[in-house]
Amino acid sequence: MAKMKMEDVLKAGRATVDLPLERASTLPPEFYRSPEIFDLEVKKVFRRNWYSVGHIAEIPNAGDFFRFDLAGEPLLIVRGKDGVVRALSAVCRHRWMLLAEGAGNAGTLSCPYHKWTYALDGSLMAAPLMQEADDLDRDACSLPNFACEVWQGVIFVNLDGNADPLATALEPLAREFAPWKMDEMEIVGRVEFEQAFNWKVLIDNFMEAYHHFGIHPETFEREYPGENTTVDASKGPFAVLRIPHRDNGLAQPLFTPLSGIPDKVRRSFSVFNIFPAHIFAVLADTLAYYRLEIRSVDDFKLTIYLLAHPDSLKVPDVEELKAFLRDVTSAIHVEDIAACEGVQHGLMSKTAGPARLSHLEAAIHQHQIWLLDQLGQI
Ligand code: FES
Ligand SMILES: [Fe+2]
Repeated sequence: MAKMKMEDVLKAGRATVDLPLERASTLPPEFYRSPEIFDLEVKKVFRRNWYSVGHIAEIPNAGDFFRFDLAGEPLLIVRGKDGVVRALSAVCRHRWMLLAEGAGNAGTLSCPYHKWTYALDGSLMAAPLMQEADDLDRDACSLPNFACEVWQGVIFVNLDGNADPLATALEPLAREFAPWKMDEMEIVGRVEFEQAFNWKVLIDNFMEAYHHFGIHPETFEREYPGENTTVDASKGPFAVLRIPHRDNGLAQPLFTPLSGIPDKVRRSFSVFNIFPAHIFAVLADTLAYYRLEIRSVDDFKLTIYLLAHPDSLKVPDVEELKAFLRDVTSAIHVEDIAACEGVQHGLMSKTAGPARLSHLEAAIHQHQIWLLDQLGQI
């Protein structure tokens, strides 16, 4: 595609997306492949909205931390001595070294370079051999502390600090999720993938089950055929896809669903996208949360967290069941990767244009309307 001005690109997007679903198409392929659009997403979407960075079960104790890069911003997600989960900058206030990588536990955060040391709330405790630096402002040398909210056990960060409180917009989902006690869940499995495709290719894939008979004929399609799926009418900055069990029959859970989880959830499961990119599937006995650490227009690290409530796990052979869940989840995602990689390759073609949507793909449409709205904001 010849170089177009950004406002023309957005206008082209609105021309295909801002229509009733029956007449709408997806965003043009430019939105999936252009580094300029990606830069705009970083600025207008990822830095301005709440973004899910991980789960509280990863940092149960004071001093537990993990690193996460959000929109190019290196973060340290830390549980303080006061039990509070914070999203601190991971960039040392001396000469920009990263304070840590990976995950761990520490009493203080000490920079490996020249050993400036910070408390778990980010305040500077020590800066060795700096006595000759006149007027060193120690308060200004505390680590920046980004807005952080824990919702249903998931840690969300808002980099610019101006987003409305997350919980208000998600009230309808919180009501639905109450019986699961999600904030008490533990991690029963974790699988990681390096993904070389645009982040929206995965979101699109996750939010429709139309592809079950094409991509998962031996796995999902047997139990959860795509043709009877439905998408909830939009009620906020999120999309919901309902996936009934074959013939509306009862699915056999691996673990024991908590009491209070409605019986109808044994006959269907639901998948959610809290915009832009917090995607998860909720079954009667377990939850699969997909965390995307997006690095560029065609590169992100995916971590799939498999979660369950401790009371659901009081079953014989629980370790074998957890391993089985990890294996099945991986196998299904490997099938999805084949589709996503094919799409990424195909949408680079000069022949690729906006794609018409099935009624089964309404959640993609809802997401893209929201995205265009965000990208068009000043
Ligand atoms: S860069 Fe951290 S102490 Fe120098
Ligand atoms: Fe799939």
